Amino acid sequence: MQAVRDSWKRPGHVPVSSTFSKQVLVWFDQHGRKDLPWQHSCDPYSIWISEIMLQQTRVDTVIPYYERFVQRFSDVWQLAGAGLDEVLHYWTGLGYYARARNVHKAARQICERHQGRFPENMKEMTALPGIGRTTAAAILALGFHQRHAILDGNVKRVLARYFAVEGWPGESKVEAQLWVHAESLLPDHDIADYTQAMMDIGATLCTRTRPGCLLCPVQKGCMAFGQRRQHELPVSRPSRNLPQRKVQIALVQNNEGAIWLEKRPPLGVWGGLYSFPEFMDEACLQEWLDRQYGADVTKKKTLPVITHAFSHFRLHMYPTLVYVADKPIGVMEDAVGVWYKASSEKIGLAAPVHKTLQQVIPRIKEGSHDAHSSMCKT
Ligand code: ADE
Repeated sequence: MQAVRDSWKRPGHVPVSSTFSKQVLVWFDQHGRKDLPWQHSCDPYSIWISEIMLQQTRVDTVIPYYERFVQRFSDVWQLAGAGLDEVLHYWTGLGYYARARNVHKAARQICERHQGRFPENMKEMTALPGIGRTTAAAILALGFHQRHAILDGNVKRVLARYFAVEGWPGESKVEAQLWVHAESLLPDHDIADYTQAMMDIGATLCTRTRPGCLLCPVQKGCMAFGQRRQHELPVSRPSRNLPQRKVQIALVQNNEGAIWLEKRPPLGVWGGLYSFPEFMDEACLQEWLDRQYGADVTKKKTLPVITHAFSHFRLHMYPTLVYVADKPIGVMEDAVGVWYKASSEKIGLAAPVHKTLQQVIPRIKEGSHDAHSSMCKT
């Protein structure tokens, strides 16, 4: 047993971790991504924003959002000084809006508690909202050249295959095993390149459905490849039937063509974003319309159901379009609302709300400046 454990000490033997990282680094020199917009600066602010946007979102999707975001909020002070509505506006369409709320909250904490300087250690970084172990490790490695392992979804897949790890990587026991492997492979130099390379290999070569094993720099040592099991690993998430939720929504359009939107409560689904007034069923909607508008509702039209999948449930929204003479006249349970006419309005909208608005207000083009909307608190 001892002989096996000490085999790395034999002359000529190269430990697996150093072989692995060397192969990864050589690959990175030739094939790694070195020209992404957030790689143009080594400012931890840029790296932080990009890493948050890249959580659960692909690079191609992130690039335009990232560019608009850092153009408007060029440093942590600007972000901390902005209102949440505007931050959510710049996140509109990117999804997972808790990320935007956390980025905003974290910016304020960095300014208040760290004088605007990004903390440079794992403990303080993971104390910030929205920054978990792998995001902190990526920022520390890419921005500060500190030696930390990352384990995002792509890297989990690379390591689950390389070490033929059984079980779904979302399970804590399996994840713990993968962290041990990730730590074991770290090089003792070029940590930033290595970190980026691992992400790139996961995103571009070791893909879920069609892994490019023939081009992979670590193919030789990959256990899944050796066993021809690269299509089986990692094991998929056990299937579950998502709960279904139904709501009735009102698309209230006034005589200027604007649609009434209400700000959602800060916590919960689409927290802080603007959406259509929502009701349990059609009877509740009708009651609300009677109370708000009485005889001023001129026409009602049922529109096709909008379905949106969240990670934990599926939402079916049943829209009714109603035409009204003017804005709501009654008191609307303290809701903050806006008559929305153009996407130039700086508020956050969930993707299905944005899409529906574009269909219902077809004359108003993206970014149009002549159209306007008026904020009001009822
Ligand atoms: N996914 C998460 N972080 C990334 C990065 N820095 N580059 C590419 N993909 C990523």
